[in-house]
Amino acid sequence: MGFITSAALAETGYVVLDDHDQAADPAEWLGLEYIGWRSSGITRFAPLASYAGEIECNGFWNHTPPRTDKAGVWIPEQVRKAPVLVRRAKEPGADIGRCRVIELQPNEYADAVYNLHQDDNNRLNPEGTGWVVRGFFNLSDDPDSMLILREDRFDPASEVRLALPAGSRIIVDTQRFWHAVWHRGKDPRYALITSWTSGPELDAYIAVNNGDAHPATVDIDQQLIEDAQVELHRRIEERRRSFEAQGIVMDPPVSLYG
Ligand SMILES: [Fe+2]
Repeated sequence: MGFITSAALAETGYVVLDDHDQAADPAEWLGLEYIGWRSSGITRFAPLASYAGEIECNGFWNHTPPRTDKAGVWIPEQVRKAPVLVRRAKEPGADIGRCRVIELQPNEYADAVYNLHQDDNNRLNPEGTGWVVRGFFNLSDDPDSMLILREDRFDPASEVRLALPAGSRIIVDTQRFWHAVWHRGKDPRYALITSWTSGPELDAYIAVNNGDAHPATVDIDQQLIEDAQVELHRRIEERRRSFEAQGIVMDPPVSLYG
């Protein structure tokens, strides 16, 4: 039966919308309550919508009863502090699961490559319903930072790099793509991340905001990429050995080095 997916995302798996005029908005994200939540890199999160309206970040499937990343409950004390962010998350009119602001500390390209991961947004998602994708709205101005996407975790040739100036808006099928951010700023990066359910509402939003499935990718030095590949395999091997020493066998149980 499959899932309801977005035609706009079918070709490349991501789209970049027209920039939002971020400078015209108040910096609501600075007044929110953040909690420690380890994601890709050194991060904290300020949830706006969660499983039950509490200030916590856990996947909806880790609660009782478990459910997929849909029907998030707005957190009143956070919503009061960030009405513009909430309005922007709701603008497509698509169902919202988790919705939160991420705070990411500066990192290196090799860190981002090691941090590449696929999301699990569609765990427990019933077939025949909408596929959950994610919106990334950059709030701080990070024109030299980039969202890194890879269809194949270990293949840099599959890599796309999307710049993150203030107001940039990217929608990604984050369960299909390995993704992480290389944040080159001096200060933390802030972005609003929203889980949306695919369907006609999201399609219309992408269309009216000129969703581009072939945006420019940022060029970076080839040597940097090659060095990061070596470092990626070194770190994976290091982690595997560390787990093995504790009697935990990693999957795949083979050397990934070299
Ligand atoms: Fe993710």
